[in-house]
Amino acid sequence: MKRYGHLFEHSPWVAEEAWRARPFGSVEEMWRAFEDAMYSAPWERRLDLIRAHPDLAGKAAVAGEISPESRREQASAGLDSLSPGEYEAFTRMNREYREKFGLPMVVCVREHTKESILRNVESRLGNSREEEIRTALAEISKISRYRLLNLIEGERR
Ligand code: GUN
Repeated sequence: MKRYGHLFEHSPWVAEEAWRARPFGSVEEMWRAFEDAMYSAPWERRLDLIRAHPDLAGKAAVAGEISPESRREQASAGLDSLSPGEYEAFTRMNREYREKFGLPMVVCVREHTKESILRNVESRLGNSREEEIRTALAEISKISRYRLLNLIEGERR
């Protein structure tokens, strides 16, 4: 179970909760248990899960103080090598998003480029807070699914 603790950013409770649904007949079934654990957690706990995510290209990322998974994901979209202008655009985006929703902007970076992240956030800023919380959880679900598939791929090799 410890192997799965990092699938949800700094939130091993998701794997702990999912573990109660064992035995799993397949990876898909295990995956569904993770997702169920996330969605059935109390509201505050779900908000804490969103808050556990570092800003994209934020101070912690620049200082190398984020989880290895988050670092790899951010690097996959080139967020670790932004030009000064791009860095500025991400800093502004993080600030605007936090000001409006009181949460970090979470997006499944692996499905994006740096340009598409900025466009995506632009439209998400028009959402209500509740819609955004729903979107953030759906993105977290995708992020952790990629992490799980990576983990399993790694084990097969
Ligand atoms: N998308 C994928 N990983 C992360 C992360 O660590 N932080 C944020 N904000 N979004 C992500």
